[in-house]
Amino acid sequence: MSFKSVSDAVHSRCSVRAFTNEVVPAETLREILQLAARAPSGGNLQPWRVYVLTGQELRRFVGTMQERLLSGPADPEEYTIYPPNLKVPYRHYRFDIGERLYRALGVEREDREGRKQWFARNFAFFGAPVGLFCFVDRCMGKAQWADLGMFLQTVMLLLSERGYGSCAQEAWALYHRTVTQFVSAPKELMLFCGMAIGRPDEKAAANHLNSPRMPLDDFAVLRGFEE
Ligand SMILES: Cc1cc2nc3c(=O)[nH]c(=O)nc-3n(C[C@H](O)[C@H](O)[C@H](O)COP(=O)(O)O)c2cc1C
Repeated sequence: MSFKSVSDAVHSRCSVRAFTNEVVPAETLREILQLAARAPSGGNLQPWRVYVLTGQELRRFVGTMQERLLSGPADPEEYTIYPPNLKVPYRHYRFDIGERLYRALGVEREDREGRKQWFARNFAFFGAPVGLFCFVDRCMGKAQWADLGMFLQTVMLLLSERGYGSCAQEAWALYHRTVTQFVSAPKELMLFCGMAIGRPDEKAAANHLNSPRMPLDDFAVLRGFEE
């Protein structure tokens, strides 16, 4: 797949939560990560630190993670994924995307076990052949965390351009200790999120989800243009 424009790429990227087992070559990932590092960052700090697992290493990690899931509650929180008591309209958007996902999967609202099992698929990277973790130095602040987002979106667009799918995953923050230990990340690094990467399974219901966006006038104010 190749895109005619950036608009095309932005438009066609969506979170992919089911993958084929096609291998993603190391050169492709290295090329994408190097290019994505062209993302802007305040003061050119380039605060992203990335670990990528595939093949035997990924299988070993997912095995470790499955044991970890059975061994007890999540790790003590290092950062709060969503603000507590999420207010409207944010609460509405979060609820809505969850409902859409479970509807696409055919999991009923009352089926708590079904929902839990689906959520747990996060911790197998949804079966993706590649798992990426994005860390940031603990000395960094809010501004640098925003830089991580620019880097990650650039990675996702470059993946789309090559016909690969991805899903950013904050869920990994719940098990930051297991992740940090497995990849041997130094103590000064803190896990922000993971990302599942691979060739999308086009037939999978999970990949046929329409995630809506709020209308422009709900989030943007443009002034002075009518003069
Ligand atoms: C930083 C970040 C973390 C995310 N974490 C998760 C996650 O843990 N699990 C998941 O299924 N989706 C996760 N998502 C995907 C969002 O749910 C998704 O981006 C949003 O619903 C919009 O849908 P789209 O990506 O298909 O456009 C995450 C997205 C971002 C940007």
